[in-house]
Amino acid sequence: MSRINNFNEYEEHCSLAKTDHNAYWSKIAEEFHWYQKWDSVQSGNFNDLNIKWFDGGKTNMSYNCLDRHLESKGDKVALIYEDNDPKIPAKNYTYKELHAEVCRFSNVLKEKGIKKGDRVCFYMSMVPELLVGVLACTRIGAIHSVVFGGFSAKALAGRIQDSDCKILITNDGGYRGDKIIPLKNIADEALETCPSIESMLVMKRTLSETKWNQERDFDLRTLMDAASPICECEQMDSEDPLFILYTSGSTGQPKGLLHTTAGYMVYAKHSFENVFQVEENDIYWCTADIGWITGHTYITYGPLLSGATTVMFEGVPTWPDAGRFWEICDKLKVTHFYTAPTAIRALEACDLSHVTKHSLSTLKVLGSVGEPINEEAWDWYNRNIGKEKCPIVDTWWQTETGGILISPLAGITKLKPAHATLPLPGVLPVLVDPEGKEVEGNPAEGNLCMKTPWPSIARSIWGDHERYKQTYFTTYPGYYFTGDGAKRDEEGFFRITGRVDDVINVSGHRMGTAEVEEAINEHPGVVESAVVGCPHNIKGQGIYAYVICSDKELQKENLHKELNDLIVNMIGPIAKLDDLQITPGLPKTRSGKIMRRILRKIAADDTNNLGDTSTLLNPEIVELLIEGKKK
Ligand code: PRX
Repeated sequence: MSRINNFNEYEEHCSLAKTDHNAYWSKIAEEFHWYQKWDSVQSGNFNDLNIKWFDGGKTNMSYNCLDRHLESKGDKVALIYEDNDPKIPAKNYTYKELHAEVCRFSNVLKEKGIKKGDRVCFYMSMVPELLVGVLACTRIGAIHSVVFGGFSAKALAGRIQDSDCKILITNDGGYRGDKIIPLKNIADEALETCPSIESMLVMKRTLSETKWNQERDFDLRTLMDAASPICECEQMDSEDPLFILYTSGSTGQPKGLLHTTAGYMVYAKHSFENVFQVEENDIYWCTADIGWITGHTYITYGPLLSGATTVMFEGVPTWPDAGRFWEICDKLKVTHFYTAPTAIRALEACDLSHVTKHSLSTLKVLGSVGEPINEEAWDWYNRNIGKEKCPIVDTWWQTETGGILISPLAGITKLKPAHATLPLPGVLPVLVDPEGKEVEGNPAEGNLCMKTPWPSIARSIWGDHERYKQTYFTTYPGYYFTGDGAKRDEEGFFRITGRVDDVINVSGHRMGTAEVEEAINEHPGVVESAVVGCPHNIKGQGIYAYVICSDKELQKENLHKELNDLIVNMIGPIAKLDDLQITPGLPKTRSGKIMRRILRKIAADDTNNLGDTSTLLNPEIVELLIEGKKK
C-alpha cells in the first residue's frame, strides 16, 4: 500500500490523503510495529498548535529500525561505514550486528543513569557510534540532541544548557580530510559552563592527546565492550519526544526544534521509500552529516526503517582529491547518491578527470538537498554523474518539516531542472501574497506556506512553545510559514527561490544574521553591524557584513581577521564572513529599522533598482555603501 509505483498511483495517494487523511495515514502506519494501536490518527491544527499524530499509540523507533527486520533480513548489511582514509576498507554492519551495538550503547546509557525523557547530547564526527548512539537513545526513550561537530565550544554550551542535557558523548578527535578536529578539547571547554552534564563518554578515534577528568570522563568503547548486547525497548507514546535539533532563525539564538516519535517515524519511512524508490539490493548513500536534519532522517531513520543499506562517510569530498565521492560510488556500488548543491558546485569547479576516471555505472538515482540548485549545477550533475540516465530528485524540506515535503519521486515524476516539482501525498503547499491571501492559478509566485499538518512537523521549540507559535504561525494565521519564497509554473511545479527572511543559507547551512551580528558586536571597536547574504559561486550564499566602528584606525583586513576569530569562537568556522565594509552608517527608516533589502542589493552588486530610498532617515548613506562595496 505504501509504495507508489507510477504517476497514477501518486495521484491516487494524493487524492486519498487529501479527502480522508486519517484513512490514508492509518494504512501507512499499519506497516510498523506497535505495542498498542492509536486511538486517533490526527488531531490539532495550526490555530490550536496542539498537533498530535497516532495519539494513544505505543511504539519504539529503535524496534522499528532494527528488531522488526531481524527475522527477515538480520544478515543484510544495514550500514556501510567508509573511513576518512581511503586505504582503510569499508566496514559493514548487518542488521543483527547493528542491533547488538545499539543494545550495548543503550545499556551503557542506562548504566550512566539515563532514563526515559533525559536529554543526551552528541558532539561527534561521523563515526558509527554516532548513528548507534542516537538509535540507543530512542531505544530507551532518551531524547537526543546532536550538535554538528563544526560548532564552537560556546555554541555547544548554549545548546547543552538550553535543553539541560545530562550526558555528553564525543570523540577525542574527528578526521576531516587531512585535519583533525579536537572535539574533546572543545567539549571540555563547553562543559565549564554546563553543570547539567554528569558524565562524558569519549569515543577514541584519532588517539589525540586530551585531558581526562577521572570522575566525569569514560571511554565509550570500553564500556560498550563490557555491556550486554540485549536491551528491551521502552514503550513510547506516539507523542513522546524523539529528538531535539537546533537550527537558526531570523532572530535570537538557535531554536531547539522538537520532533516526536510516531508521526516522524511514519513520515521518515514513507517519504524515503517513495522519493528514492530504493529496491532490495540497492546501496543508498546520503553525504550529509548526522549533525543536520538530513543526516537524521535520510542517513539514519528513513533507510533503516525501510530495511535498506545506508552508507555513512567520515571524510570530505575533496580529500585526498576531488574524486573521493566518485571513487566511493564505484567501490561500494552505490545506486542512490544524495548530496547538496554546494558539493556539486565545488566538484564541478575541479578538473573533470576526477569524475571521468570512475565509471559511476551503478548509479540509478541522484538527489539534491539543502539549498536551491541552479540550472548549471543541475545540468552538470545530470550529465557527468548521472550520465543522463539517473533521475535527479531535488528535495525541498527543512529541520522543522522533519522529512521531504516537495520533491519528484524518482522515475515517476517528470523532472524540470532546478524545480522541486510536486508535493508528497498529504502535503498541501500554497503560495501567499504579502497580505496572506492565497495566490490562485498558475503561474504564480509568493511565500511558501503549508495548509495542514503532516505527520513529521516539529511539534514545538524546546521549552518555548510561544516562540514556536510566533515564528511559524503568526505571519499568516492558520498556515505554517516556511520562510521560503517560491514560484509555481504553468503545470503547478514548484521552484523554491530561497529564504525571504533574515536567514542565510551558506553551503546549505542555515545561519541567522542576528547570531552573526551578535558575534561581530562583541568586538570592542564595533558600534553596530548588519549582516546579509550575498551570492557566492560555490556556497550559494556568502556572508557580507556592514560594520560601523568607533575606532577610526581599524583597517578592513585586520578587522576581517579579528571578526572571523570572534565568529569562530562564538559560532564556528561555518559562519565566517566572506567580505565586509566599514561604514559610517546604515540605511534606516524613520522608526530606526535597518533597511536590509537595500543592504542585500548592494552586497549583490544589484544597485540599478534600489527602490525608493527618499523615505530613509539617512538617504545619503546609500551612495557611500555602493562605493564602499567596490573597495
Ligand atoms: O531555504 C530552504 C533550503 O534550506 C532551508 C532549510 O534548511 P535546514 O532546516 O537546515 O534543512 C536543510 C535540509 C533539509 C529551507 O528553508 N532548502 C532546503 N532544500 C532545498 C532548499 N531550497 C531550495 N531547494 C531545496 N531542495
